Amino acid sequence: MTATRDEAARDSNARARLMMTRMNPAAPTTRRGPETDFLVIGSGIAGLRAAIELACHGRVLIVTKGSRFQSNSMSAQGGVAVAMNAEDDVNLHFTDTILAGHQLGREDAARVLVEEGPARIQELIDWGTAFDKVGGQFAFAREGAHSRSRVLRARGDATGHEMIRVLLERARQHPNIQWFDRHFTRDLLVADGRCCGAMVVDEITRDAQCLPAAGVLLTTGGAGQMYARTTNTENATGDGMAMAYRAGAVLEDMEFVQFHPTALYLPSSPPCLLSEAMRGDGGVLRNRKGDVFMPRYHPAAELAPRDIVARAMWSEMASTRSRHVYLDVTHLGKKFITRRFPTIYRTCLRCDIDITEEWIPVSPSAHYFMGGVKAGIDGRTALPGLLVAGEVACNGVHGANRLASNSLLEGLVFGYRAAQAAASLPGGSGRAFRRGLVARGGTEPAGALEDGEKLRNSLRRLMWNKVGLVRTGESLVQALAWLSKWDRQMQGTLHTRADLEVKNMIQVARGVTEAALWRENSLGAHYREDFPTCKNSAWNMHSQVRRPPADEDSRLAHQTG
Ligand code: SIN
Repeated sequence: MTATRDEAARDSNARARLMMTRMNPAAPTTRRGPETDFLVIGSGIAGLRAAIELACHGRVLIVTKGSRFQSNSMSAQGGVAVAMNAEDDVNLHFTDTILAGHQLGREDAARVLVEEGPARIQELIDWGTAFDKVGGQFAFAREGAHSRSRVLRARGDATGHEMIRVLLERARQHPNIQWFDRHFTRDLLVADGRCCGAMVVDEITRDAQCLPAAGVLLTTGGAGQMYARTTNTENATGDGMAMAYRAGAVLEDMEFVQFHPTALYLPSSPPCLLSEAMRGDGGVLRNRKGDVFMPRYHPAAELAPRDIVARAMWSEMASTRSRHVYLDVTHLGKKFITRRFPTIYRTCLRCDIDITEEWIPVSPSAHYFMGGVKAGIDGRTALPGLLVAGEVACNGVHGANRLASNSLLEGLVFGYRAAQAAASLPGGSGRAFRRGLVARGGTEPAGALEDGEKLRNSLRRLMWNKVGLVRTGESLVQALAWLSKWDRQMQGTLHTRADLEVKNMIQVARGVTEAALWRENSLGAHYREDFPTCKNSAWNMHSQVRRPPADEDSRLAHQTG
């Protein structure tokens, strides 16, 4: 599944040509934006939940690139895991979370998730979220690596949409919440060692504004777009991770990228997610020959943890020389399928696949980052004034592999907690903010990528082929050479959303690759073909990537216990 050396060599010349940034002396103007107490960057579930809480403590400005209606949270299908079923309890949810994460997860974070989860979900229900019921009781579904049925859903497979609908409505009604839609956050502002605001660029006019704030909460989600195949929306370009890294925060556990086993595989269209719940409700995986294969790989078969299912598919695809396997739900019956998975049914039908009659071609796709900006369980980072929550953050809750449907819960629980921590920050000072602006510079010439679209595609291919589901030391070294070169060649201040996203993805990709090269064992979502053993307690530690001092180029992954 890796590119041949010839392909790599052919690509190399093309890439080298792409790398020069064009200098444009006419930089767009920068002005000071509106006063606020708290900046929330990102409008997925963590950002919205945080903003609603912060609005009780001061003025909140939510900055979001594109539209507030576009986020991974919004398109989350399967559901939200929470121990609220009569046959369940939080200790079981805790154990499943830790086991799915291959015991690398931090226990304090997992405890907080499962214990505070029910209150956050009850709150959403009280605010009007309509989770599906059967016979008047909430319907709890079973998903991979869960020991109980504990996944709530809404409108069958539109869970994220329903939860975000309610949060958006609540945020809209709050007089303390203002919005900056279609604004791209270029960088954080730092003065006297603390984060004091952010610089944003209007996606349409390209004018920049500096936004001062006492607390900045990053909730920008993950970076799935840096892979050629991903279930993520176009927004997921690692912006928060990259800007936090540039501002001096630490990236942790970046080698752990979850590949969702079942994304629709059609050569001519982007992958789209086929919820884990389809396997939870009885869907089976078949290889190219039609054979059911998961029982050969794990006793839980289709309900094994995601990393195991994804790699089993990978190995079946390799041995049958196929680019996909099949997900078969035909035996579940048309009535059940159309009621339980209406969105997936309609989406596949638009691609000319009737899932009630045909097996669905599927292959793994980049889905979720367990790693991110290192944070404590209240969202605080190494940079005072900067907090993080949701997929951009790494508090260790997921360890080496996230348990299915834990991410919406994570956004709610840790978004709320980060907001409470931000509310207790000391107020910002105008003087610190002005120093932040000066420190930021502003004299760099404006730049533009020669062919950003092509570079984006090259990056996505490189990451998929060399830093994907299966990695080797050799593939990682090759990838790192390209990424370091591209990173060094990014010069000048970029101004368009597209260019800035490419720059961010390259920096995050470098972090993933460095951490993956450092970790010489296989654990959870990180699989090294040259180090296939996971049972090596010496590796029971976390990787960290930090910005090097100004005079050094290398950014080695450091280790912590
Ligand atoms: C799914 O429905 O399979 C995605 C939900 C998740 O990533 O947990």
